[in-house]
Amino acid sequence: MAHHEHRPSETDAASTDLFEPPAWDERYSGEETVWSGKPNPQLVAEASRLRPGTALDVGCGEGGDVIWLARHGWRVTGADFSANGLARAARNAEAAGVADRTEWWQVDARTFAAEGRSYDLVTTHFLHPPGGGMVDVTRRLASAVAPGGHLLVVGHAPSEAFSHLAASRHNALFLAAELLPALPDDFEALVIEQRPRTVVRDGTTVEIEDSTLLARRVQ
Ligand SMILES: C[S@@+](CC[C@H](N)C(=O)[O-])C[C@H]1O[C@@H](n2cnc3c(N)ncnc32)[C@H](O)[C@@H]1O
Repeated sequence: MAHHEHRPSETDAASTDLFEPPAWDERYSGEETVWSGKPNPQLVAEASRLRPGTALDVGCGEGGDVIWLARHGWRVTGADFSANGLARAARNAEAAGVADRTEWWQVDARTFAAEGRSYDLVTTHFLHPPGGGMVDVTRRLASAVAPGGHLLVVGHAPSEAFSHLAASRHNALFLAAELLPALPDDFEALVIEQRPRTVVRDGTTVEIEDSTLLARRVQ
């Protein structure tokens, strides 16, 4: 994610705090912008090929992807477990002139239930729940995809580039193929890739991989 501000190293306590809302609320409470505001590259690559409809972005943070989708004709619900993050995202959408195409939903992806809602695109970027929890989160998010709709799950692949993360967070990173067991029978996987990308971190160019799963729910 072009957005990440990577800290040089982490303690285990600071690391596990980031699995819960208070640490993210704290992070989003100041004046400083946390992410770049730019859309994530895999979202742009994949959603550009889709006909706009309704979309859900889980772990939307400051709303960069929500705003990009709204600008490209989607009606978007941004979801996050951080109330401060959602408030920021809503302010950013207002400033971008797309507030009328956006909604906000405070929800924890680890207990996500579609509750009758369905979307033409369900997307999530760089949500790394602990203990390999992304398989379960992917299964939950799949339940919110409308027939004929798409599920896009993107995260960081474990690598040396993330060796500064404490073990609990490094273990939460995943490969696209590891998510396949989460896809219900009526989904077909369209993309299961490790996509290389470079980011500049503290003035140094670092090679990373975006674990990218795109799947379609058959009609
Ligand atoms: C690394 S940031 C990514 C933000 C955004 N998707 C982006 O790519 O810029 C992760 C976001 O997911 C949210 N988050 C983390 N765990 C979550 C969970 N279990 N349920 C919902 N949101 C979560 C955090 O509050 C944060 O905004």
